[in-house]
Amino acid sequence: MKSYQNPKGTYDVRPDMAAKYQQLEGILESIAHFYGYEEIRTPIFEDTGVFKRENDSSDMVNKEMYTFSMNGKDSFTLRPEGTAGVVRSYVQNKYYALADQPVKMYYYGPMFRHEHPQKGRYRQFEQFGIESIGAKSPMLDAEGIALGYSMIKALGLKNVRVRINSLGDDESRKNYREKLAAYFRPHIHELCTDCQRRLEQNPLRILDCKVDADHPVMKDVPLISDSLNEPSKAYFKEVLDCLDALEIPYVIDPKLVRGLDYYTDTVFEVENITGNAGAQATVFAGGRYDGLVSYFGGPDVSGFGFAMGMERLIMLAEDEGTKLDEMPKTEVYVMSLGNVGTKPLEIATECRALGYITDFNYASRSLKSQFKTVERSGAKVAVIIGESELADNKINIKNNRTKEQITVSLDEFADALDRIMEEENEENSL
Ligand code: HAM
Repeated sequence: MKSYQNPKGTYDVRPDMAAKYQQLEGILESIAHFYGYEEIRTPIFEDTGVFKRENDSSDMVNKEMYTFSMNGKDSFTLRPEGTAGVVRSYVQNKYYALADQPVKMYYYGPMFRHEHPQKGRYRQFEQFGIESIGAKSPMLDAEGIALGYSMIKALGLKNVRVRINSLGDDESRKNYREKLAAYFRPHIHELCTDCQRRLEQNPLRILDCKVDADHPVMKDVPLISDSLNEPSKAYFKEVLDCLDALEIPYVIDPKLVRGLDYYTDTVFEVENITGNAGAQATVFAGGRYDGLVSYFGGPDVSGFGFAMGMERLIMLAEDEGTKLDEMPKTEVYVMSLGNVGTKPLEIATECRALGYITDFNYASRSLKSQFKTVERSGAKVAVIIGESELADNKINIKNNRTKEQITVSLDEFADALDRIMEEENEENSL
């Protein structure tokens, strides 16, 4: 017999953890709806070209993608992130032709990167992301950051820091790349082989190299802020003004470039500055992308978005004492005694239709053991179906807190149950 383990860098969401994911998804979705975002679901794999775009120099694209082919011809890749698939869908479905832009979408689900697994970093991980595509305004950048910020506040994260920078427009980045290349060229043989490739392909990537991060040459690198042209500077200032107006604290980090190639103008990362996320403290991150929609054959419109790592969110929320697994519990438990046929199932279904989370007894068990189940479930009400009462079309309802029990006709059952539940809910809210 063979025994298997889950692949390295993955994990099982066991039933006790699933409750936390469900709760987290519910919180994030409701806040996204509040900001006018609607859900989009794109495939978990796409044509490799959706992610591996021409001249892409990022590690994610060049080193970390799970790429496969089923017939030796087509190449597919498990999505390493959500943005590219959402933009592909925006273009394919001609969302750009909708009268109201931007189109605001959120998504969540598994992403795949062949990274070195460690605490808070996995090969299959869950992201919750938003994309607002089809318009460009500093207000949208700030609103997007505010949305993410309100999500992590809702989860009880207190010690977070927004780091923000601008990569400017095409002209500014071209200037900057030239400056950086000239700066690094004399030292290039002291840097890692990846950085030697990066110098030619995109010297910006040298700035987020983990191998060379502590090399002395990194200390005095030219900063992008000195290469921004006037329109880019003005745009960035407006984004910061909006954040000030929203009272979102941030620090400008002139060295922040982000690890993906598609960003233009605003880039940001939000990290937790205490807690046990260790080196993986970035909770959510994103920015603006001007060229991605047109790359996929759409019009020259811009997008903005971010994604958050759900495992990190859960870990940090729990550190702060937020109880994600306090899911709604059974409210009504339907007990049965004697030969009552399918009535427990029918009554449980009726209770659920009335809006109560309901469970029921389906085996022949003593009343004592069923009452124990009621206690364990925390149900507010026990409905007791007895063979002799049922013959008279009657049923018992017991308030589990006051221990009061009443017998009502089946016709009166729904009203009586509603009344007791209402009283209990009032009692609980006192
Ligand atoms: P990213 O910075 O690559 O950006 O990932 C966003 C977040 O996903 C990270 O801040 C982190 O919380 C989480 N994350 C990334 N990799 C891992 C991993 N291996 N294990 C656990 N969590 C991870 C993006 O993915 C962009 N698509 C964000 C974006 C949306 N930009 C514009 N729109």
